[in-house]
Amino acid sequence: MAKPMAIEVYNPNGKYRVVSTKPMPGTRWINLLVDQGCRVEICHLKKTILSVEDIIDLIGNKCDGVIGQLTEDWGETLFSALSKAGGKAFSNMAVGYNNVDVEAANKYGIAVGNTPGVLTETTAELAASLSLAAARRIVEADGFMRAGLYEGWLPHLFVGNLLKGQTVGVIGAGRIGSAYARMMVEGFKMNLIYFDLYQSTRLEKFVTAYGQFLKANGEQPVTWKRASSMEEVLREADLISLHPVLDKTTYHLVNKERLAMMKKEAILVNCSRGPVIDEVALVDHLRENPMFRVGLDVFEEEPFMKPGLADMKNAIVVPHIASASKWTREGMATLAALNVLGRIKGYPIWSDPNRVDPFLNENASPPNASPSIVNSKALGLPVSKL
Ligand code: GLV
Repeated sequence: MAKPMAIEVYNPNGKYRVVSTKPMPGTRWINLLVDQGCRVEICHLKKTILSVEDIIDLIGNKCDGVIGQLTEDWGETLFSALSKAGGKAFSNMAVGYNNVDVEAANKYGIAVGNTPGVLTETTAELAASLSLAAARRIVEADGFMRAGLYEGWLPHLFVGNLLKGQTVGVIGAGRIGSAYARMMVEGFKMNLIYFDLYQSTRLEKFVTAYGQFLKANGEQPVTWKRASSMEEVLREADLISLHPVLDKTTYHLVNKERLAMMKKEAILVNCSRGPVIDEVALVDHLRENPMFRVGLDVFEEEPFMKPGLADMKNAIVVPHIASASKWTREGMATLAALNVLGRIKGYPIWSDPNRVDPFLNENASPPNASPSIVNSKALGLPVSKL
């Protein structure tokens, strides 16, 4: 029997039915949908992760589009249900979409949206925060104060790592990895080593120019190197941040063998996806190397941590909050809603998902386009000329 759902409805007489599996930040996304004739239904079920069955109930018999979350399993069953209900579009409110079986969506002709661009800086800032917190042992020191253990200044108390002049390693120098690299190079004068299948010319130019600027001012210039393998980054860097997408090739990218290649006092940060690290191997490594530190925003089997991780003083753990700034989360909701709206209305696909600013300007109407549809080519959808 179908479970009763707490549903909030906007514009009950709207022509198109759009469902959001969760309440999302801000109201602009709701207004944009309502203004273009949608009935918006928001699920308030008191359950953090909705099951496939929950979402099937939400989709019902008629549904034009769904906005969902990265915790949901969007595969054959849901795309088949959405297609039967007349649906044309699904959008994750996330840039990552490893929870979505895009092949299944293609099979049913359903567009899959994501929300790039708006979370680049926010996510990079969290990676930078974890880097600093780990380097300077901030969480440990905070716990020490609160426990009433502070008896006065001591030469050895919570000594950590100086970042200036050390090497930051970035694995995956796409939008977020590059933004993080710039923050660490510019903010803390670190040298850069990165590994990516593609050359990041803009990033290289930035570090070169900044190095020249420092030199002209009588300071030690920063340097960059594009590594020929991921192992080279692991061996050479003092601080390493992971920014790859999660797929078959990046599952357990950081495993026992690769952890062993890293410096004993290195810092590892992960704001990408949990399964990129073998978390069991990481716990063993943290236990055996007390000077090795880690800052984690994501976990292999969220919401759980592998046994032992929570007890490690050399680990900082936060609950997948890298994109959690107000501006970003409201922008993600807007992009996800516009992805779905665009398909429902038959608008073309925005030509450059890295340039989504026109959709985020609250003082103007957004362009008539879907900002980012990851399977637009597979579905043969037209691209906007704007
Ligand atoms: C968050 O993890 C995202 O992919 O947007």
